[in-house]
Amino acid sequence: MRKNILITGGAGFIGSHVVRHFVKKYPEYFIINLDKLTYAGNLENLKDIENHENYSFVKGDICDSRLLEEIFTIKKIDGIIHLAAESHVDRSILNPMEFVETNVKGTVTLLNTFKQFCDIKNAIFYHVSTDEVYGELDNFGKFSETTPYSPNSPYSASKAASDHFVRAYHSTYGLNIKISNCSNNYGPFHFPEKLIPLMINNILNKKELPVYGKGENIRDWLFVKDHAVAIDIVFHKGKNGETYNIGGNNEWKNIELVKLLCKLMDEKLGNEPESSLKLIKYVKDRAGHDFRYAIDSSKIMNELGWQPSVTFEQGLAQTIDWYLTNKDWLQHVTSGDYKNYYSRMYEK
Ligand code: NAD
Ligand code: TYD
Repeated sequence: MRKNILITGGAGFIGSHVVRHFVKKYPEYFIINLDKLTYAGNLENLKDIENHENYSFVKGDICDSRLLEEIFTIKKIDGIIHLAAESHVDRSILNPMEFVETNVKGTVTLLNTFKQFCDIKNAIFYHVSTDEVYGELDNFGKFSETTPYSPNSPYSASKAASDHFVRAYHSTYGLNIKISNCSNNYGPFHFPEKLIPLMINNILNKKELPVYGKGENIRDWLFVKDHAVAIDIVFHKGKNGETYNIGGNNEWKNIELVKLLCKLMDEKLGNEPESSLKLIKYVKDRAGHDFRYAIDSSKIMNELGWQPSVTFEQGLAQTIDWYLTNKDWLQHVTSGDYKNYYSRMYEK
């Protein structure tokens, strides 16, 4: 019998890569993509697979328990890969409650429906989470699966809460759960509110490049398709009740990364060398800005055999090429409400 896998948030950045990966690699699965299509969700991200016979899309909210019941009674759900979330730290500072709604209430609503309708001994509830739940690091050490949670932003606090609920449903009700906590992703279809696509879009449009504080904060970057493969591996081979950290072993100071993007884009666009560097503008720091994230991925590498497949050089080149050949996509997602967000954040 064909297995039915529900992927939530599958029209977003990472979700669209996960949906594509599963639809193409597993014809024996039927993939249901449930997404509310917020500003961050976009069916253009899934054009190439929208007519696949093992795929269907449902527009809806994970907080809507009636809709969830309908989905779970029409089809026996064998596994959930839960990615739906509000995902941007700056927006969480502007409006924390939206993050509580979707990330906490939505996750618990999904857990309740899963508990009520699924064969909980066999069906899998997989929560895709972030390394930001561990808080920040100084210049030393890395986050491991046993690092205590210490979230600093409303976003990371909401993801920490949802991780705790998922684990609590494992301990209390015996749900078969898996959690992964991943570092910063980059790649095609990344919404231009996050660092890398925002800088690419601004360099293309010769707009200022807003670097928070002194640009010395550090992030560990992972190519999104490598994250999708890691999610596949954790879903299929991860142990019940366990957490897996996923990282790129690829730490960059923000300012160094922005300078690298300027150089690569200037080369691609045939600009005068160093011309985009002049667009860099240091702006007011983010409130509660975590200094450094770094992930120790040895558990998933040693126990499950995952490792990143592309270097940062290769991944960034693919990413920049994608944005240059998909200017229409950028145009669509930056028209409308993006303009309001951008001026509220950067043109105060
Ligand atoms: P995204 O913001 O690009 O996409 C989120 C998707 O969820 C969108 O399609 C949106 O429409 C949908 N959504 C939002 N609220 C919903 C609701 N109430 N009901 C149904 N759908 C809803 O996010 P992303 O960057 O693709 O992140 C996906 C997941 O991975 C999130 O859970 C995030 O916390 C986690 N994560 C992201 C990163 C990263 O670097 N982007 C790293 C680690 C973990
Ligand atoms: P972001 O992509 O928002 O991811 P996160 O905050 O979840 O790590 O930001 C990555 C880093 O880039 C973070 O240190 C904040 C910084 N940043 C800027 O300096 N300028 C910007 O315009 C943005 C969006 C981020």
